[in-house]
Amino acid sequence: MKIPITKPYIGEEEKELISKVVDSGWVSQGPMVAEFEEMFAEYVGAKYAVATTSCTTALHAALSVSGIGSGDEVIVPSLSFIATANSVIHCGATPFFVDIDPETCNIDAQKIEGAISKKTKAIMPVHQMGLPADIDAIKDTADRYRLKVIEDAACAIGSEYKGKKIGGHGNIACFSFHPRKIITTGEGGMITTDDFKIAERLRRFRHHGMSVFDLERHKAQRVIIESYLEIGYNYRMTDMQAAMGIVQMKKLPEILKKRQDIAERYNEAFSKIAYLRVPGVPRYAVHNYQSYWVEVLGNAPVSREELMQRLLEKGISTRRGIMAIHKEPCYSMHNVALPHTERITANTIILPLYPSMTDEEVQYVIEGVFDILC
Ligand SMILES: Cc1ncc(COP(=O)(O)O)c(C=O)c1O
Repeated sequence: MKIPITKPYIGEEEKELISKVVDSGWVSQGPMVAEFEEMFAEYVGAKYAVATTSCTTALHAALSVSGIGSGDEVIVPSLSFIATANSVIHCGATPFFVDIDPETCNIDAQKIEGAISKKTKAIMPVHQMGLPADIDAIKDTADRYRLKVIEDAACAIGSEYKGKKIGGHGNIACFSFHPRKIITTGEGGMITTDDFKIAERLRRFRHHGMSVFDLERHKAQRVIIESYLEIGYNYRMTDMQAAMGIVQMKKLPEILKKRQDIAERYNEAFSKIAYLRVPGVPRYAVHNYQSYWVEVLGNAPVSREELMQRLLEKGISTRRGIMAIHKEPCYSMHNVALPHTERITANTIILPLYPSMTDEEVQYVIEGVFDILC
């Protein structure tokens, strides 16, 4: 058996709608993007959604329109994909790394206050692997210090915090549609906000700073001459991508259920292995299981790398746990000690989990892990 780490859940329906878009001739940002944005905003419970080319560009746009720039600091976890910190650098600001709570692998809300300086302008929590960070605790600190909260929700489509979807908590939240995420548009991102002015700035920012949007000009009965109100970027999603996103949104409840069912089977099986720690879910959260990780404990008979290698030999793909950004060469000037982050990045592995995974495939992964460890 060959089991990949993930597989997007794409079928004929996506092909049909994309092909209609191709036939229409409107392949760049247009009516499909507008429809996808509306669907997404409604799903998460936000007033506005703005589509972009990726979550990385979404984060850059969100930070920029929030006024983050040169000389500013943004508090981020180091245990994240490198794009989290890079987006801060893209704005000319500096990421300030804070350790995680090892139970959730999310930024430790209790440690944020100690990291705030005169330069701090924002906190960027990451809902790592789809498990929501403690938004209320983070917001409480942010409000006391008048800081912005911009959520890196790349992995968190469909996850919930205190009964509300991620993206619907009144902060700016940025999502990813990369194929390793919950739903995909090939590449793509989305920003949600309840603030009309921020939404308008984001729409301009992604469209070269132009005063008029394509769809508006197309529908206009009078000639509109555009002007450029600020320096912007081309961060526009195409209508072909949005068509895929619209179909994927309809499949989202099914995708989430399948992921949660598989994670439950993994949890039940792997919690019986004394050498592993399985992910816990705080009472406030609904987890979408964008990724499923286990921690290989110090008493295990094999190392994390050996476990990964032996699983690969059985045809089971795994990935190392989430990276620690401050340990990468390009961030070597950030000389900080983050003990929980360093332990989790060194000892966790991500196991295969995707909606089309069969019962036999799930069983094969479970047996593979038992075979090596027990
Ligand atoms: C936490 C996090 N932030 C940001 C990103 C970047 O997303 P994208 O690939 O859509 O730019 C990722 C992607 O892996 C991620 O996991």
